[in-house]
Amino acid sequence: MLNDIESVLVDEKQIDNITTEIAEQITKDYANSGKKLVLICILKGSITFTCDLMKKIPFPIEIDFMKVSSYGAGTSSAGVINIHLDIKREDLTDVDFIVVEDIIDSGRTLSHLVKYLSERGANSVKTCTLLDKPERRVVDFTPDYCGVEIPDKFVVGYGLDYNEQYRNLPFVGILKPEVYGG
Ligand code: IMP
Ligand code: MG
Repeated sequence: MLNDIESVLVDEKQIDNITTEIAEQITKDYANSGKKLVLICILKGSITFTCDLMKKIPFPIEIDFMKVSSYGAGTSSAGVINIHLDIKREDLTDVDFIVVEDIIDSGRTLSHLVKYLSERGANSVKTCTLLDKPERRVVDFTPDYCGVEIPDKFVVGYGLDYNEQYRNLPFVGILKPEVYGG
């Protein structure tokens, strides 16, 4: 598995600092909001980030899950958003959502989800991502909380996959292009 990694882009220490910093910002912004805060973990890629982030938030929150795809197999975006698993809640008007993503590429997934949850009546919807590839943007979208901007390279690890592999690496690394024929 490690042989397929060109270089480490974000190591465990950096990830730890990022989750601490974002958790502090979220705490400042929501600790006294008076509404329920729900982190929506976007399966499968953001499980690791959501777990680490939520442990550093020191006030009551809930978590929920959605499964969405914009990518087909491989490394290029399909451009269509499919919701495979949706939240089942009746209390959206009482909820501040933060949608937690592993990475933003075209921006389609998160801009679609913000619109979708807002239209269903959420009190508020913000977005949080560990990684952002701003060069790849197709739709105009800026996350509210962002760990680190990265260059236009295909990365894996810490939840991110290539064809379902590499999610269990503890760091984010650049995948060697020969692995995906790039
Ligand atoms: P967007 O809708 O184009 O912003 O796509 C975001 C989704 O694409 C992420 O949740 C990932 O599943 C996937 N993705 C984008 N870039 C990468 C990458 O470098 N490695 C792994 N998955 C990626
Ligand atoms: Mg994803």
